[in-house]
Amino acid sequence: MNDKIFKALNEQIKHEFYSSNLYLSMASYFENIPLEGMAKWFRNQAKEEHEHGMKIYQYINDRNLQVDLQGIDKPPAKFKSAEDVFKQAYAHEQKVTRLIYDIYELALKEKDHATHVFLQWFITEQVEEEKNAQDNLDQIQLIGDDKAALFVLDQNFDKTAD
Ligand SMILES: [Fe+2]
Ligand SMILES: [Fe+2]
Repeated sequence: MNDKIFKALNEQIKHEFYSSNLYLSMASYFENIPLEGMAKWFRNQAKEEHEHGMKIYQYINDRNLQVDLQGIDKPPAKFKSAEDVFKQAYAHEQKVTRLIYDIYELALKEKDHATHVFLQWFITEQVEEEKNAQDNLDQIQLIGDDKAALFVLDQNFDKTAD
């Protein structure tokens, strides 16, 4: 693995761990409203994002290199509303997709076929992540100010979180 790919993969571990912390912060926001279903959903997302980071961590180790962990930025701690959270979550997933595409293109350019194949899992995963994030945002916008509908939606999150 060349230096450029090594650097980009270490950076991506950072982005995945940041995503994990961002979703934990969002989970805590919902725990305090309280909307337990949404909190649970974001806690699970946080766990998944950590696993994404660990996948890259393992891949670097499998290529006989030592991971070079980067500092993780502080995620936002304040949110205006449930809709605000879902808007930010969707925008964040779109950003992560672009970051994955950038490394994918770099792997192609550098003719790193192993990394190219490795990243395909992430590209497929992002399709699902963006779909979920967009569906969540659509649903929260659909119910508007209807508090009763919000509680029903929260129960639905509770059921689908696992
Ligand atoms: Fe991820
Ligand atoms: Fe994600």
